[in-house]
Amino acid sequence: MSISASPVSAPWLPQLRIERDAEAVGVVVAERLQRALQRGAVLGLATGRTMEPVYAALRHCLGALPEPQRSALLAGWCSFNLDEYVGLGPQQRESFAAFMDQQLARPLGLEPGRLQLPDGLAPEPQQEAQRYAAALLAAGGIQLQLLGLGSNGHVGFNEPPCSAAAPCRCVELSPATRRQNAAAFGGDPAAVPARAITLGMDEILAARQLLLVVTGAAKAQILRRALLEPPCPEVPASWLQRHPHLEVVVDQAAAALLALS
Ligand code: GLP
Repeated sequence: MSISASPVSAPWLPQLRIERDAEAVGVVVAERLQRALQRGAVLGLATGRTMEPVYAALRHCLGALPEPQRSALLAGWCSFNLDEYVGLGPQQRESFAAFMDQQLARPLGLEPGRLQLPDGLAPEPQQEAQRYAAALLAAGGIQLQLLGLGSNGHVGFNEPPCSAAAPCRCVELSPATRRQNAAAFGGDPAAVPARAITLGMDEILAARQLLLVVTGAAKAQILRRALLEPPCPEVPASWLQRHPHLEVVVDQAAAALLALS
């Protein structure tokens, strides 16, 4: 159930949807993704715990489609993920490639190559970032970009401080991000790779539509900063305010600090 009478005062943000919990958020976002797939849109996809209920709901929606619509939709699938750790490939279960394989590619039976990510095993990560950006451009750019929010305000792996013009590149991960993502690495931040390849704010802001998805009380403070404070390099997600087609879908816990007093 969505709460439409939101108390948020952000005139530039007409598209805020607050749902009861992460599962309800997942259902709404999966509907958006399904509609985009039906239009043949190039999708920008994201990883992280926030996306697990989204992908569960998407598997459910697509599984319920009758044939031949389902096969036709899967045959036209084209997506680019935001990021990948340097040094990890699909064979390592901590990689984003393995996450996407487990969440979507395998259960949906997607053909190899439909779901694209930067190659974390490429010998020259910076060159790989350039190749990936060029492949994205050759596909016509992203129509619908799904985004999670890092606890330090990053989107993709655009760590603060980050300009709105930062391109696809190899980045150093901050200690905060390595702590945030340690759970997937046995709880040890030192085991989290030190670098990653990420789409830049530049490619993200070039997407036709953005869909920011945020759940949980732990993200309430950074979500408030991202949406209600003036855009700044210290909160990379705040650059999203400048996009003309940004939709934000959050649960009640994440929305807790959005009301202006
Ligand atoms: C990760 C990813 C981001 C993701 C974010 C939030 O590090 N690079 O793309 O959105 O952090 O992750 P989670 O959903 O697990 O909180």
